[in-house]
Amino acid sequence: MKAVQINKYGGYDVLVVKKYVPRPTIGEGQALVEIYAASINPFDKTVRSGGMQKIVPLQFPITLGGDFSGVVKEIGEGVSEFKIGDEVYGSANIFSGGSGSFAEFATAKIRNVAMKPKNTSFQEAAALALVGSSAVQALEEHIKLQSGNKILIHGGAGGIGHVAIQLAKALGAYVATTVSSDDKEFVIQLGTDEIIDYKNEKFEEKIKDFDAILDTVGGEVTNKSLAVLRKGGTLVSMIGQPDLKLAEKLGVIAIRQRTRVSTQHLERLAQLVENGNIKIKIAKIFPLDQVREAFKYQEEGYPRGKVVIKVK
Ligand SMILES: NC(=O)c1ccc[n+]([C@@H]2O[C@H](COP(=O)([O-])OP(=O)(O)OC[C@H]3O[C@@H](n4cnc5c(N)ncnc54)[C@H](OP(=O)(O)O)[C@@H]3O)[C@@H](O)[C@H]2O)c1
Repeated sequence: MKAVQINKYGGYDVLVVKKYVPRPTIGEGQALVEIYAASINPFDKTVRSGGMQKIVPLQFPITLGGDFSGVVKEIGEGVSEFKIGDEVYGSANIFSGGSGSFAEFATAKIRNVAMKPKNTSFQEAAALALVGSSAVQALEEHIKLQSGNKILIHGGAGGIGHVAIQLAKALGAYVATTVSSDDKEFVIQLGTDEIIDYKNEKFEEKIKDFDAILDTVGGEVTNKSLAVLRKGGTLVSMIGQPDLKLAEKLGVIAIRQRTRVSTQHLERLAQLVENGNIKIKIAKIFPLDQVREAFKYQEEGYPRGKVVIKVK
């Protein structure tokens, strides 16, 4: 089968489209999926460039990619949740026990798979998995966002941000978001109530006493954000560990999220998509053979929404 592999860490040039990679073999609790589409996340760059090597050293070659959609071709021992022919989506990331989704076939742990939303294309479903699970976990599980709450979402035009805006609106919240001036129209269409141009304005001078913050940016944005929460308010960071001492001093809650692309999150996401609450936005679709161009666009092209790789 065709697959995008790396033999070493590095830039775009380490991404190699190989034509004759053996199909992954299925294990207990796994499904073998014929991949129709995959999507790129910043984490795929982290893996490619060696950002995970100290935590989990890899045995090369490895197939990159997590997010996927496709059709179940085989099921492993002990799997009763899916049958051959099911249209599914989820994560086949190697760090969660999959074989990598930038390929014609991938194995994935059943706990990272769900039925694809009925009203989406394969490309849209592949774009949803990690960013959508991130938004659901942050807003519904950590923040427990309620109708009437005020939430600031940093990076509203990004993968996570644009889904989180739609989810927050569906939950009845007032939504402020930080974006560059080019992305204002994009987030207005998603239902945003208040826009802060992060290159020309200081959100900490415009926002006060908010109930919640979803931080997809990190760095100094995180600490500044803690100060615009009301007492007892919650910040969820997608980027790293917030300063817990500062949070305690300010009387706010700060949570570092590690997203789980679980069946439960994916099913909730599918429900939100099928109800019309969330629509994933695809910035651009690339064929598998143009994976280098796809990564370059993801990293340098300021995409609005998601970059998708069409496999079939
Ligand atoms: N903890 C976890 O489990 C987990 C899971 C998923 C993702 N993540 C991380 O979460 C982050 C976001 O992921 P994503 O998929 O949403 O990435 P993305 O699609 O690349 O979006 C990032 C967005 O942030 C915007 N941005 C950059 N600097 C900003 C600033 N100072 N203020 C406001 N917005 C700014 C970018 O806008 P421009 O186009 O203007 O630069 C872009 O729209 C990544 O770092 C990713 O690695 C963590």
